[in-house]
Amino acid sequence: MKFFYLFLFSFALLEGATATQVDVKYQKSQNCMPCHARIVKEWQKSWHAKSHFDKDEYFRKSLEYVSRKSHKSLNATKIKCAKCHNPRIMVTQTDQDYEIAAVMGLDKESEVNKAVNSDAINEGINCVVCHNIDEIHYNYPKSKRGIDRVEWTPSGIMTGPYKDAKSPYHKIVSHEFMTKKANQLCFVCHANDRSIHGVVFTDMEAEYKASNSDEKCVDCHMGQKHKDVAATFRNYHGKARVRDVRAHTFKGAHKEDILKNALSLALKKKKSALYITLENKLPHNVPTGFGARELIVKIEFRKADGTILESKDFSLTRTYKRKRSKPSTPHLAKKQSKDTSIPAKGKKVLKISLLKDAKLVQVNVYYRLVNDEVRSLLKLKDKLWEKKFLITSKEMKL
Ligand code: HEC
Ligand code: HEC
Ligand code: HEC
Ligand code: HEC
Ligand code: HEC
Repeated sequence: MKFFYLFLFSFALLEGATATQVDVKYQKSQNCMPCHARIVKEWQKSWHAKSHFDKDEYFRKSLEYVSRKSHKSLNATKIKCAKCHNPRIMVTQTDQDYEIAAVMGLDKESEVNKAVNSDAINEGINCVVCHNIDEIHYNYPKSKRGIDRVEWTPSGIMTGPYKDAKSPYHKIVSHEFMTKKANQLCFVCHANDRSIHGVVFTDMEAEYKASNSDEKCVDCHMGQKHKDVAATFRNYHGKARVRDVRAHTFKGAHKEDILKNALSLALKKKKSALYITLENKLPHNVPTGFGARELIVKIEFRKADGTILESKDFSLTRTYKRKRSKPSTPHLAKKQSKDTSIPAKGKKVLKISLLKDAKLVQVNVYYRLVNDEVRSLLKLKDKLWEKKFLITSKEMKL
């Protein structure tokens, strides 16, 4: 028995990236409510607030799948994924000794188990993730992301955009990655997402660089700057100060309304073919962000009276293979199919033959969060994952 106690002791001391304890005064967004209620409510609606495994079915089931297929304990996998999904976790690495203890069921009292189940991380990417970053290591290897790419401020110091702010509740420090260089803050996690075999299945930073754009992520995902108070606390001669602020909504592909701006569509008839052009004006690909996202181009040929002659669906998505060519999820990929996304600031043209008797063609472009293959591998139940979000549609007389 002594033997195993020794094991427990050694993994309790394990450390990877430096974790800094967040005082309970600052851990929860609820603590920010009294003075930043607007911001807290905006953030609550965002998917950053759902980045914990208990709050996102797709994330949880992917995690369980990775753990099963890679023969690693569930906790060890949770700690790997936490690097970006729950970066305030207190244990950042596990080793073989932990795996043995976990198999034996001797890890219940371990630091690893406590860290994974701690209340401190169940809000996912909350205020004290972005606003407690003190330094971003731009020069680190591309593969080092999330927790491995940053240094934290001591608990109670908030990093923010304003140089001259004062708060009675916390100290304040200002950094350029909250203003001019805010894209770098996003790229801490939204870049170089890779499988356990090192296959990079998304890289928004590379897409952005290739687009030669200087647009800011926050302009679209936190909206344009507008006038409002950053804090309701009456700190300035008995008044709350009005500032340039943005919305903490981080709207993305899980919401229909942002998808409406994602692509434009043009139809052209030439000889006996129909040319469908999809143009992407964004500084990142569409789809992007995560593997197995999908665009569906639905084409309907109709007679003059409107009856459908033929309907075809084209899927633009990526699939993944693990050993012996078995279908798999992005995180287990040894190989991935060709990239079919519409490049940033670029376009893609699909050519199809016209139907002889058709007098009208209608093209609808939809977005889906998960393609059929990955959705069925993971047995995702929530209807959200199979929902087709309409991006745009067009009709043409033939
Ligand atoms: C994903 C990163 C991220 C998270 C999570 C986040 N913020 Fe922010 N926050 C930012 C960025 C970036 C800015 C700067 C926006 C700008 O002015 O360009 C900002 C600005 C602010 C400001 C200045 C006023 C404003 O609205 O621009 C306050 C106050 C603030 N955040 C509080 C919070 C609170 C409270 C939470 C938790 C509910 C939170 N933030 C969560 C990234 C984040
Ligand atoms: C008692 C009120 C109060 C509470 C509670 C509070 N803050 Fe603040 N906070 C302020 C005030 C006041 C400012 C300065 C606003 C200004 O200057 O416009 C501020 C500013 C900020 C800023 C912007 C700093 C900058 O320099 O740009 C951030 C980020 C921030 N708070 C985060 C938080 C977070 C996260 C929490 C919860 C853990 C929190 N605050 C709780 C009052 C509070
Ligand atoms: C600490 C890591 C981290 C940082 C920093 C971060 N994000 Fe995220 N972001 C995530 C993760 C993880 C998710 C996925 C959450 C989920 O779906 O469960 C996400 C999701 C999103 C989404 C998708 C929302 C949707 O509904 O599809 C958008 C948009 C987004 N982030 C924008 C940003 C922007 C803009 C910044 C920079 C200001 C930023 N993020 C900074 C980790 C991060
Ligand atoms: C001009 C507006 C605009 C800018 C600038 C922009 N985005 Fe987006 N973003 C969108 C739209 C529209 C979508 C929905 C289409 C899609 O998912 O590809 C989106 C989707 C996303 C998603 C969800 C992708 C998915 O399919 O899961 C993330 C994450 C994201 N953006 C992050 C970023 C980051 C990081 C930057 C900065 C490098 C950025 N965006 C810059 C408009 C923008
Ligand atoms: C390099 C940072 C990083 C790591 C490490 C990471 N993720 Fe993510 N993950 C992200 C970001 C950023 C997003 C948001 C992408 C988007 O919505 O466009 C995301 C999104 C996801 C999604 C899509 C969620 C949704 O609601 O659509 C799943 C599933 C997922 N991750 C699974 C995992 C699993 C499982 C692990 C661990 C094996 C993991 N991730 C590790 C950064 C990371």
